[in-house]
Amino acid sequence: MNTETKTSEERVRADRTDKLYEHIPEGSTLLSIEGLNVTYRTEKNTTVAVERFDLDVKKGELISIIGPSGCGKSTILRSIAGLQKPTAGTVKIDGKECTAPGSDRGMVFQDFALFPWRTVLQNVEFGMEIAGVPKEERKERALRYVKAVGLEKFANSMIHELSGGMKQRVGIARALVMHPAVILMDEPFGALDAQTRNIMQEMLVKIVEHSARTILFVTHSVDEALYLSDRVVILSKRPSTVYKIVEVPWKRPRDRADPEFAALRKTILGYLEEQNVME
Ligand SMILES: Nc1ncnc2c1ncn2[C@@H]1O[C@H](COP(=O)(O)OP(=O)(O)OP(=O)(O)O)[C@@H](O)[C@H]1O
Ligand SMILES: [Mg+2]
Repeated sequence: MNTETKTSEERVRADRTDKLYEHIPEGSTLLSIEGLNVTYRTEKNTTVAVERFDLDVKKGELISIIGPSGCGKSTILRSIAGLQKPTAGTVKIDGKECTAPGSDRGMVFQDFALFPWRTVLQNVEFGMEIAGVPKEERKERALRYVKAVGLEKFANSMIHELSGGMKQRVGIARALVMHPAVILMDEPFGALDAQTRNIMQEMLVKIVEHSARTILFVTHSVDEALYLSDRVVILSKRPSTVYKIVEVPWKRPRDRADPEFAALRKTILGYLEEQNVME
């Protein structure tokens, strides 16, 4: 197939899926998850990971998902990405059910999932190659995002030459460059040292401020959730369902030292403790 001959309409479908939803106003529901249930069955075990999970995500919203270890957070993100078939329930974007992976949902994986035989720039270009974006434009766009994540000097480096934090930035650039309607991030900063983590959080805040991105972000850090998101979804212990939803009322950038910040952090930690009780 000659991937370079797609019409502009097909291109919007494949590599600028945010444009497909321009008719939805900011703040209206873009993504809705209803009655999600994921049950894993192996020869020895049946594990209900997610049960009766419902969530409406508004266009332009950044939602953090936080919950006890092993409660089903990655399972929820994978189901939204179309990488895990739900046992029951639906994932819909603009009212249309998603049953397979699609370029309208960009995923940033915790373990990076980069192509080791490609350079930084070539990794970021990958999705655009599949979508049939012409070579010149592809390179120009990829370079813009490589710069945005501070990796300009490493554009032509191989993946094994990068540190963990740098690899994660490639993963973020690769997802963002496609302008997906929804960005799914599974603990993207979890493996980073505290300082790099703060820098990456600043970067994400800038991205959110400069473009209307709809983001679902899994984290273990209450501090990170409060610093970044519009709403924090706290999950129950497994099988995970929505336990509490906390609205974060402040504009960005936020002040972690503010007493109100500390008070809300305490409230959320309290909810988490209620769910962390071992049975
Ligand atoms: N492919 C699989 N087959 C069988 N069981 C699975 C599979 N994937 C996950 N599980 C189980 O489902 C439950 C939820 O797993 P999941 O990875 O979604 O949790 P999580 O909240 O992301 O955990 P963590 O906080 O450690 O990242 C766990 O009990 C896990 O053992
Ligand atoms: Mg996980």
